[in-house]
Amino acid sequence: MLNSCIITQLPKFTDRRGDLTFIQNGPQLPFKIERIYYLYDVPAAAERGGHAHRNLHQLIIALSGSFEVRLYDGNQSRTYTLNKPYEALYVCPMIWRELYNFSSGSVTLVLASSLYDETDYIRNIDEYNLIAGQIRK
Ligand code: TYD
Repeated sequence: MLNSCIITQLPKFTDRRGDLTFIQNGPQLPFKIERIYYLYDVPAAAERGGHAHRNLHQLIIALSGSFEVRLYDGNQSRTYTLNKPYEALYVCPMIWRELYNFSSGSVTLVLASSLYDETDYIRNIDEYNLIAGQIRK
């Protein structure tokens, strides 16, 4: 599962007026965008995430500043530093994620494949490890 979670480069148009990056639905995206949310004014010591989603696909982008994302599939973990507004980290369903080490003024953009649904969350790591272990069998 962790191998599906990759950083993709988004289109970037640069000219003397600055840079422009866009994201739109289409074959280049691994899911159709249904929801957008963003994190801002995050204290440096704060940790976000700390959960997995049963069915949700997401793209995570550092629109401004930087932070780290630790992904865990119940077996292995990988850590990414996101700090470029033209890079998106794809997170597939059933991956535990933790976001931390937010720089001052950072803005995290998240594009999601469905509307907010608390029943899609797994917020307990023991429950997550159990389900992830069953999927691996
Ligand atoms: P939470 O999932 O804890 O945020 P994070 O994953 O960044 O740590 O969400 C914080 C609160 O916001 C929680 O009460 C649920 C609510 N929320 C929504 O109502 N809609 C949403 O789209 C999201 C992502 C969260």
